[in-house]
Amino acid sequence: MNENQSFDGAYFEEERSVDVVNSRMGEAGEPRLKDVLAVITKHLHAAVKEIEPTHEEWFAAIRFLTETGQICSDWRQEYILLSDVLGVTMLVDAINHRRPSGATPNTILGPFYVEGAPHYANGTNICLDAKGAPTLVRGRVLDIAGNPIAGATLDVWQTNNDGFYDVQQKGIQPDYNLRGLFAAEADGRYWFQTVKPRFYPIPYDGPVGKLLKAVDRHPNRAAHLHFIVTAPGFEQVITHIFTPDCPYLPEDAVFGVKRELVAEFRTIDDPALAQDYGMPCPFLLVDWDFVLAPAR
Ligand code: BEZ
Ligand code: FE
Repeated sequence: MNENQSFDGAYFEEERSVDVVNSRMGEAGEPRLKDVLAVITKHLHAAVKEIEPTHEEWFAAIRFLTETGQICSDWRQEYILLSDVLGVTMLVDAINHRRPSGATPNTILGPFYVEGAPHYANGTNICLDAKGAPTLVRGRVLDIAGNPIAGATLDVWQTNNDGFYDVQQKGIQPDYNLRGLFAAEADGRYWFQTVKPRFYPIPYDGPVGKLLKAVDRHPNRAAHLHFIVTAPGFEQVITHIFTPDCPYLPEDAVFGVKRELVAEFRTIDDPALAQDYGMPCPFLLVDWDFVLAPAR
């Protein structure tokens, strides 16, 4: 090393912190990762400079991230939950699912999806615990031009009337309660019996729940049914139908509500129609079409 050689530009300085860190990356390595890391470094340093945390605050953040990792398991993904409550999940979803107008929008998948739900004939009741307001959901699966998509698969899941998914209450609820797979008929029609979903809290017994509490945010999701709708040649839709009267509609804990996904739940007092669908009378009726965009 030459005594006169100056390394000044390489040493850390508050004013040049971003450049100092980002200039360490070499020619080799993964270009996309290098770009991502450079942007994250830029915004992270800007945030730290704006916040000017004390050492105690910085360490509280480290502890939070540590606890967030420690609670993760095969059943619990606290980092996704953190992404959800910060609106990042919905932002990533929006960026990756820009669809033509008229197509059903995506929303958040959530942690309670289970593969392998039973296949049912149209008209089957997916509510196995006999609790809640009887509801008939019916509609069509269509392409953008309004043509039926015969054979499209609808994978549906929701909470029971107490606001829990079956997987949160193993041994209390029947397995696969309020889950099922349906196939659209030749004219695109589908229909099934269920109960009106209820709002419920996201898991809030961990670090994310503590964070929400500390900033005076509630953990509740607006009441919804989940759907994954798939058909060959079309883009898969991961979406919800929301009830219109839920108090949490404008303040869903994970920002999953979209105006186009709020349905009507009409009370039907028509014994003949009830009989046609094997429903008690009166019942709630949701008419809901799914419109799929062509695969990209
Ligand atoms: C859900 O809708 O099932 C959900 C979504 C995000 C976080 C927790 C639950
Ligand atoms: Fe949900």
